[in-house]
Amino acid sequence: MRYKLSPSILAADFTRLGNEIECVEKEGADYLHVDVMDGSFVPSISFGMPVIKSIRKKSRLFFDVHLMIVNPERYIRTFSDCGADGITFHLEAAKDPLRVIGLIRDAGKRAGIAISPETPVSDLSDEIIKRVDMVLIMTVRPGFGGQKYMDECTGKIKELRNRTRELKPDLDIEVDGGINRETIKTVMNAGANVIVMGSSIFEGDIAENTKYYKKVLK
Ligand code: DX5
Ligand code: ZN
Repeated sequence: MRYKLSPSILAADFTRLGNEIECVEKEGADYLHVDVMDGSFVPSISFGMPVIKSIRKKSRLFFDVHLMIVNPERYIRTFSDCGADGITFHLEAAKDPLRVIGLIRDAGKRAGIAISPETPVSDLSDEIIKRVDMVLIMTVRPGFGGQKYMDECTGKIKELRNRTRELKPDLDIEVDGGINRETIKTVMNAGANVIVMGSSIFEGDIAENTKYYKKVLK
């Protein structure tokens, strides 16, 4: 399986954002995970268009934009124009998920759909799975970095990987929340291949952390 490391800038030091992105890029990060929160789908508010636009000028990484916002269809074009390469929205936040997937495709971007810990994998229809490039299984409650991995989510990763073996063998399965030196093997063994990491990358020595996880994901 082709593994990808997607450092989440939510945990970065925003006074040094450009430098920290440069550092993960130099050490071989594959994606850059960009968490957009609206204070409505989730309690917190993170950052939005101006930040993405300005880091786009500095980085060639694949921007893996994770929208934690209500009615995501309103903003697909905007985030695409700001420099997203992939856009992932929440199943729970969309009235018509197939339409949102269509909008992401029309914008020429890779489409992802996310499910929160309380949402079962069975809420994703075969049709949705066939039309997205990636499913994001949240392994913490969306909204904040630095939370503890929820063990009950491991079964959902396995269930989705088994279900897609025939349905869509090349589906990317992303995990997000509480991934660290202890939990990374668990999610890899369960079938995840795109690994988001906030605090485990940006706390401490960013270059060393990135190098370490790139090795694990080889
Ligand atoms: C949480 C965000 C995550 C967050 C993960 O809602 O979606 O991407 O940055 O942070 P860690 O890796 O610290 O759990
Ligand atoms: Zn995220």
